[in-house]
Amino acid sequence: MIFLDLGNQPFANSYQTKFSKTKERKYRLLIDYNIKNNLVSIKKRFSSQSIFNNNYPYRSSMSKTMRISFKQLAQKIKKTINPSRVLEIGCNDGSFLENFNNKNSIGIEPCKNIAKISKSKKINVIDEYWNFKLAKSILEKYGKFDLIYSANTITHIPNLNEVFKSIRTVLDEKGVLIIEDPSLLECINKNAYDHFYNEHFYVFSYLGLSNVLKKNKLKIYKVENIDVHGGSLRYYIVKENLKIKIQKSVNNQKKLELRKGLHKLSTYQKFAKKIQLSKKRLKKIFKKIKDKKEKIIGYGATAKSVTVLNYCKINSKIIDFFLDTTPEKQNKLMPGLKIPVKAYDKKHLKNIKFIFLGAWNFEKEIKVKEKKFIKSGGKFFTHIPFPRFIN
Ligand code: TMP
Repeated sequence: MIFLDLGNQPFANSYQTKFSKTKERKYRLLIDYNIKNNLVSIKKRFSSQSIFNNNYPYRSSMSKTMRISFKQLAQKIKKTINPSRVLEIGCNDGSFLENFNNKNSIGIEPCKNIAKISKSKKINVIDEYWNFKLAKSILEKYGKFDLIYSANTITHIPNLNEVFKSIRTVLDEKGVLIIEDPSLLECINKNAYDHFYNEHFYVFSYLGLSNVLKKNKLKIYKVENIDVHGGSLRYYIVKENLKIKIQKSVNNQKKLELRKGLHKLSTYQKFAKKIQLSKKRLKKIFKKIKDKKEKIIGYGATAKSVTVLNYCKINSKIIDFFLDTTPEKQNKLMPGLKIPVKAYDKKHLKNIKFIFLGAWNFEKEIKVKEKKFIKSGGKFFTHIPFPRFIN
């Protein structure tokens, strides 16, 4: 059942240059709640090849928060699970695997430009899409793995049954699968509708994910709430037959989601109403600043902000430009409304009073980095959890 319409949207990570002549692909961003299995997904499906190709601009190492999060998790895994062989699905530029011994680990990364960065760190990378065919060939060549990790990747693949069947194929009988993705409960609590864009086929709740896992003879034995990406869940998963204590955190998460009504359509309909209100209020903030003839820039040319800008129709007359540290995004245009992206440089903050925080999920890190801007009276604003000035 479709509960939310975020309008016509471009492909979130397809940054174009000024000179690009190809017409941008657009689609209607409709969000669906499946009452049978509790999965929330976008209505339209795209081929992986049309999104995750050799021009993919996202790099997980661009934020200190992510680098630290991966490092701390790697240390914890070494202490508690102590795996002999690690497989990462969607290893991006290697920020997780670089914490392990390269001889015993393999990363899967289909975007060849990003896989190349991982390879330059001497990580073993297979630059192909995760599917059953690949899993079988990995099994033949390398055998099974006692740790499989995947962060912010499984939600990008429409066919979840194939994803988990493939994982089962290469997961050791006693092996652990750890996956982490934005939490649907946090997404609703924070009105973070910008988690929805063409790459994120799903935003998982515990309720939804556990249904899919059960179907694929896997079970969750521990859940951790983590701060990254505005509130994510990290699930610890094993094969259904493995005898293991199911930790309290699992039932706690289940109870919490039921209490908050994540199994009811009415919860999603209320969420949609709040999003419409959020749009009105955010547009009001932009208007108020522009009425004063002040300049506004954006900070963090995120895929998330592409959803917000195109939904709220904020164009380059309103935001002069975005700043971003990712080389792959710089000197290009934000998809859709074509706001220019400049390389991050403190000099661009001079004489600026208002910044729209596209990378709201890194608020803490950015506030520390931009102490001077804040001290001199500069203001960040965001739509999370409702449109407001941060400082
Ligand atoms: P994400 O929210 O999808 O991880 O994207 C974060 C984007 O924000 C990414 O393009 C890098 C950018 N960024 C900056 O430009 N400066 C920063 O200080 C941080 C933390 C992120």
